[in-house]
Amino acid sequence: MNNLTKVITKDGSISFRSEQFNENFHSIAGAYYETKHKFINPSRLKRFQNKSINVLDICFGIGYNSALLFENLILEFSTLNWYGLELDKRPLNYALTDKKFYDLWNPKVIDILNSLNLKGLYKNKIFDCKLLIGDARKEILNLPKEVNFDLIFLDGFSPQKCPEIWSYEFLTQLKKKIKYEGYLITYTSAAAVRKSLQNLSFNLFNIKPTLSKRNHWSNGTLATFNYQQNNPYITQLSEMEIEHLKTKASIPYRDPTGEMLSKEILEIRKREQKFSNLLDTNSWRKRWEMA
Ligand SMILES: C[S@@+](CC[C@H](N)C(=O)[O-])C[C@H]1O[C@@H](n2cnc3c(N)ncnc32)[C@H](O)[C@@H]1O
Repeated sequence: MNNLTKVITKDGSISFRSEQFNENFHSIAGAYYETKHKFINPSRLKRFQNKSINVLDICFGIGYNSALLFENLILEFSTLNWYGLELDKRPLNYALTDKKFYDLWNPKVIDILNSLNLKGLYKNKIFDCKLLIGDARKEILNLPKEVNFDLIFLDGFSPQKCPEIWSYEFLTQLKKKIKYEGYLITYTSAAAVRKSLQNLSFNLFNIKPTLSKRNHWSNGTLATFNYQQNNPYITQLSEMEIEHLKTKASIPYRDPTGEMLSKEILEIRKREQKFSNLLDTNSWRKRWEMA
């Protein structure tokens, strides 16, 4: 098996680097920080106080997004029906042996994570959680037909490293599993992903940036069918972002069989980009002074 190397991020929380994907699980700015600002704040969990909520966490990994979700929903007395999809059991297993990770969470959250780690499920009177281990492209087809989600977190490695979970076809599966008023939340602002979501009739919102660095214009994307939003963590796409969706970067990742290798998906897209008449992405970057 490929190595996972521990990384300490700038907020002190641990993360891993995957040798297989040649990428860190989180930005170096902070694993906990990312979870809070890119996934949990825009979810607006207070909406679910004393109510029930269905959540799907794709690329569960170490489990930060769901751990912070659990912590918040316990405080809101929400009833939770949760599914996690993940290829590799090791990240959660390793993280639970790390004191820094363990100490981050309330003991009730640790109970849930321990149970998911050992049994792949957790159930009490108000939380019903199942972690499905395998390729998300296959496991998504094993979710119960009748369950649709209020929230879907999509937290895979970047599209260039793991295109299979950002393909038009995979996003089509997510469209089938989300409620009309549900939120699909991801950290990426990649034009290919946004354009695919737009082509699937989602309304797109930018998750407002929280770091004041140059070129840091987004904390990701929130996609929903419900246009009426009252969410302080998101904004309409800017002119620059709308123009991004007209560049060659917006050409989608395609995986019609749901079984293609990353390499194949990337090659097909590269060929399509080469022959495309769309705006050159470097010209777009220069125009918006990002080059
Ligand atoms: C960026 S990390 C996830 C970060 C995560 N949310 C966390 O809190 O640690 C990406 C995760 O996607 C998983 N992954 C990669 N390809 C996958 C696939 N095809 N299906 C399901 N999980 C996948 C990796 O094993 C890794 O744990």
